[in-house]
Amino acid sequence: MARSTIRLSILLASISLVAAQDATGTYPAVPLASKGPYIYPSGIPYKVDTDVGLVRGTQLGYNVCNSTTENQQSLCQTSWLNALDDFCLWAPPEAGRAVGDIEGSMIAWCTKPGHGARLIPAGALTGVQFTKTPDYVQVVGFIDQTQIDILQGDFGGEMDPHGADLRGNPMGGIVFSEGFTGAPVQAMEWHNFIGSNTFCLKACDPARPNAARFCEHIYDRLGCAYNAPNRARDGAFEACAGDSQDFPGVYTDAAGAVRTYTQPPEALGAITSVGYTARVPASSSCSAFASAALYTGLPGGGTGASGSAAAAATTTTTGAGAGAGTGTSATRAGSSSAALASSTSGAEALHLSCLAVIGAIVSAIILA
Ligand SMILES: *[C@@H]1O[C@H](CO)[C@@H](O)[C@H](O)[C@H]1NC(C)=O
Repeated sequence: MARSTIRLSILLASISLVAAQDATGTYPAVPLASKGPYIYPSGIPYKVDTDVGLVRGTQLGYNVCNSTTENQQSLCQTSWLNALDDFCLWAPPEAGRAVGDIEGSMIAWCTKPGHGARLIPAGALTGVQFTKTPDYVQVVGFIDQTQIDILQGDFGGEMDPHGADLRGNPMGGIVFSEGFTGAPVQAMEWHNFIGSNTFCLKACDPARPNAARFCEHIYDRLGCAYNAPNRARDGAFEACAGDSQDFPGVYTDAAGAVRTYTQPPEALGAITSVGYTARVPASSSCSAFASAALYTGLPGGGTGASGSAAAAATTTTTGAGAGAGTGTSATRAGSSSAALASSTSGAEALHLSCLAVIGAIVSAIILA
C-alpha cells in the first residue's frame, strides 16, 4: 500500500473507532433493575454496566470488591444492607461536587471492613435506626456528611436502580443483603436518600410481592420522611423489628380513603406542602447500642472523633415520629431530571472531545 493509502486507512479506522465510542443513545439494552440477581460472590461481573456509547458515559467503578479493593480510594459499587452495624451508603468518590450532579458515579462507603469498599470514618455516624420488616430492611440515620465527601449544606439526592435512563444511580450499582434469608441476596429494588446530614436506605426483599412498591423510586423530591417513615433519632443507635410502611406516596386520608400522591414537576418550583404526613409504622423489639460497640475497625474521622465520641453525642430528640428526613428534606430538589440534564452536557463534552481527536488526526496527516 502506498503511504498515503495507509494514512487514509488509519484515518478512516480512527474515525470509525471514534464514531463507535460516540454517544449514540440514552438507554441500555438491559435496564439495571433487570440485571441479576447475581450470586455473591462468584456470579458478580467485574462491571455490571458494560454499556459504551451512551450519553452518561461508562460505569465509574466496579462490582468485584475484595480485600485488594478495600481502601479509602476504592471505587466499589457493590453495596450492602445487613444490620445496624453492617451497611454501606452511596456517597461521592471525591469531595467537591453536589450529590445531585454525580448520582451516577456514587460509590459504596461501609460501616465495617469486609466488603472491599471504603469505610465511613469513625464518629461520622451520630444516630442510626435499623428496621427489619416482613418486606424490607432499612437504615435511617444522621451523619456528618462531610466525612464521606458530601459538601457541607448539600441537601443531596436520591439513588435507586432505575434513574431517568434506566442505568441506575449509581450506574452499575448493586445492593446485597443478608437480612432476608441469612445468606447474601441481591435486592433488585432499593432506594437511598442522602443529604442534609441525614440518610435512609431501604432494600426490599425480592421474594416478596411488592418489592418495587415499598422501594418506590418516583418520589425523589420528598426525602426520607415520606419514602422511609421512621423514628430514627440523632444520638441513638437501635435495631428494631417493625411492621411494613405504606407504599411511598400512598396514604389514607381523614375520611379513610386510600389516596396516591402525585409529585409535581420541578418546573413548578419547590414543594412547600405535601398535603399529608406519612404514617410511621409500629416498631417493636428495639435494642439500643452504643456506637463504640457497633462501629469498630473504622479509620479516624476528619475531626479526630472516635467511635466512643459519637456514642457520647448529645441526643437531640424532637419527639416520636419526627425522625430523619423531615424539614428541609421535604423540599429537596429532584434528582432524576437533574441527572438527565447533566447527562446531556456530558454527551456534549464527549462529542466535543471526539471532534478534537478527529481534528488532531487530520492535522497530523496534513502536517505529515
Ligand atoms: C479482587 O478484586 C479485583 C478488582 O475487582 C479483581 O481484579 C480480582 O480478580 C479480585 N480477586 C479475587 C480473588 O476475586
